Amino acid sequence: MPTRPLVDRDLPEAQHMVRRAFGTFMGVTDLDNFWTDFDYVYGRFGCEHTAAFGADHDGALAGVNFCTNWGSVGFFGPLSVRTDLWNRGIAQPLVAAVSDQFGRWGTRHAGLCTFPQSTKHVWLYQKFCFYPRHLTAVMAAPAASVGTLPKEARYSVLSPGERRDADAASRALTDEIYDGLDLRAEIRTCAARNLGDTLLLWEGSDRLAGFAVCHWGSASEAGADCLFIKFGAVRPGQGASDRFGALLDAAGVLARDAGMATVLAGVNTGREPAYRQMMARGFRSRMHVIIMNRPNAPGYSGPEDFVLDDWR
Ligand SMILES: CC(C)(COP(=O)(O)OP(=O)(O)OC[C@H]1O[C@@H](n2cnc3c(N)ncnc32)[C@H](O)[C@@H]1OP(=O)(O)O)[C@@H](O)C(=O)NCCC(=O)NCCS
Repeated sequence: MPTRPLVDRDLPEAQHMVRRAFGTFMGVTDLDNFWTDFDYVYGRFGCEHTAAFGADHDGALAGVNFCTNWGSVGFFGPLSVRTDLWNRGIAQPLVAAVSDQFGRWGTRHAGLCTFPQSTKHVWLYQKFCFYPRHLTAVMAAPAASVGTLPKEARYSVLSPGERRDADAASRALTDEIYDGLDLRAEIRTCAARNLGDTLLLWEGSDRLAGFAVCHWGSASEAGADCLFIKFGAVRPGQGASDRFGALLDAAGVLARDAGMATVLAGVNTGREPAYRQMMARGFRSRMHVIIMNRPNAPGYSGPEDFVLDDWR
C-alpha cells in the first residue's frame, strides 16, 4: 500500500483517527471524549523538525504516522490505523515511510515507544529491526507550592539574540549526552506554537546546567491541568544528580506559575539513578511504555544519563 505526505486537509480526520485508534486499543468506552484535552496531530504537523505520512484505502484516509528529528536521534508516532482496517497491513508501509524519512534525515539512533503488553506491537516493530529495551516510566508529581524562578529561566522572555545563545547552549549540552542529539527545533517550536515554554537552568550568567521543554494547555501534548516535560536534561558529569534535582524543582515552580497542578515526565528505567531520584522525590508512575531502538543500543538511556523523555 503506498503512503503519501499528510496534508492540511487530512488533519481533522487524522486527529479523529488517532483518538479512536488509541481509545479502542485501550478499551475506552466513551471514545468521543477520549484524549480531547491534548493534541498530538496539529502540534506535530508541519514543524521544522517533523514529517507526517498518510495511507489511503478506497480513497479515504486509513492510517497516519508522524516522526520527529532530534538531530542524530529520531522517533516516530503516534501511528494509528482506522479501527475497521486493523490487521490488513496498513501500518507496515507507514513504518517503512518514517524509516525512509530517518534515512533522509541521517538519523543514527531511531526509536519509538509502545505498549509493552502487546505482542502485536512488539512484533510489528521488530519486523523493522526495532528491538525492545528498558521500560519508560511516565511519572507525575504535584506542582511546587513554594519557590520562584528568575526571569531568564524562561525561554519565551528572551530576546532573539538571547534565544539563539540558549539554543546553542542546549545543543552543546545534549551533544555531551549523546553525540548529535539536538533539541533546538523542539525548543523553537514550543515557543512559536505557544505549546508551553522551555525552562532554562543557568549556572552563573551563561553556563547552562539543564533545560526542559515543557508543554501545557489543551493545544499541547500535556493534558488537563498538567505541565508535561517533553524533553529535559542536565549537563552530564560530576554534579549531574544535583542539577537534575534542581531541574525537577524548577519544573514544579513553572507548573505552579502556569496554573498547572501536576508535573508529568517520562524517564527511561535504564537511567536508573534518575528514575530512583524521581521516586524519592515523590514522582509516581502513571503508566509504563517500552522503547524500541534501532540499532538495539542504549542511546542516551544509560545510568549516567539524567534525561527526561518518553517518545510518546
Ligand atoms: C498498532 C496498529 C497501528 C497496527 O496497525 P495494523 O494496520 O493493524 O498493522 P499491520 O496489519 O500492518 O501489522 C500488524 C502485524 O501484527 C501481527 N499481529 C496481529 N496480532 C498479533 C498478535 N496478537 N501477536 C503478534 N502479532 C500480531 C499481524 O499479523 C501483522 O504482522 P504480519 O504482517 O507479520 O502478519 C493499529 O492496530 C492501531 O492503530 N492501534 C491503536 C493505536 C496504536 O496502538 N498505535 C501504535 C502505538 S505504538
